Amino acid sequence: MMENFSLNAAQHSAAAIAPVSKMRGEKVAVFYGQKQALFEVDLDVYERQVTALIGPSGCGKSTFLRTLNRMNDTVEGAKVKGRITLDGEDIYDRAIDVVELRARVGMVFQKPNPFPKSIFDNVAYGPKIHGLARSKADLEEIVVTSLRKAGLFEEVKDRLDEPGTGLSGGQQQRLCIARAIAVAPEVILMDEPCSALDPIATATVEELIDELKQNYTIVIVTHSMQQAARVSQRTAMFHLGKIVEVGATEKMFQNPDDKRTQDYITGRFG
Ligand SMILES: Nc1ncnc2c1ncn2[C@@H]1O[C@H](COP(=O)(O)OP(=O)(O)O)[C@@H](O)[C@H]1O
Ligand SMILES: [Mg+2]
Repeated sequence: MMENFSLNAAQHSAAAIAPVSKMRGEKVAVFYGQKQALFEVDLDVYERQVTALIGPSGCGKSTFLRTLNRMNDTVEGAKVKGRITLDGEDIYDRAIDVVELRARVGMVFQKPNPFPKSIFDNVAYGPKIHGLARSKADLEEIVVTSLRKAGLFEEVKDRLDEPGTGLSGGQQQRLCIARAIAVAPEVILMDEPCSALDPIATATVEELIDELKQNYTIVIVTHSMQQAARVSQRTAMFHLGKIVEVGATEKMFQNPDDKRTQDYITGRFG
């Protein structure tokens, strides 16, 4: 039965795009003072894919997301246990420069939060801080390229010196994405990035996320099941501080194994 030993076309392409784990959480636990918010969470984040974190409010999605670039370090009384790696390297190791880590693992927040500066300076800020530009021309190049990658350049090219805060909500969020991209991140974390946007701006940002996954690894928290289904390849379902199910997005939405996932995606709680 020779054919059993040869790969069919689908298996060939699956092998060709076999996912590489870019970040890995192992037994991740987070405490806020006495209160434990995450319990022994294990999750692989695959390179150049979108991983969606879903689950009812308060289940620990944002808490987990923040462990991936040590944003919890800035939360008073928060303690992280377990192990989190980026390309196999422990990001909580003493030798890790947290500022550099947050450039490699960038973040986009729920509410667009441009600095009270010009559109140009919003994007130029990070590359300046990190010494990524050798000249003014270099810096301009980075700003323009980042705005292009964020799908915003055409809309703002004639007013780069105007305040970023003067843009529409959707444009502001794409500006924040351009700002994250400008420091050449490998991973981009997004915490409900469309929750303050109207449906048209949301669709634009979702299309952008879909494009960005060609070059970046993305982790997105979303309370919209439709959004998770539209933009992600892999979904992790959180409940009461634990991951109850993780897998291919298609399977999670069509045929989940866990009753809680099923109840959540069909709107029975959350
Ligand atoms: N800074 C904080 N201090 C104390 N408790 C917090 C803090 N942030 C989150 N929590 C608690 O941790 C749990 C998980 O919260 P969070 O990660 O924000 O959930 P989600 O993003 O899924 O809505 C909740 O019970 C929340 O109240
Ligand atoms: Mg949250």
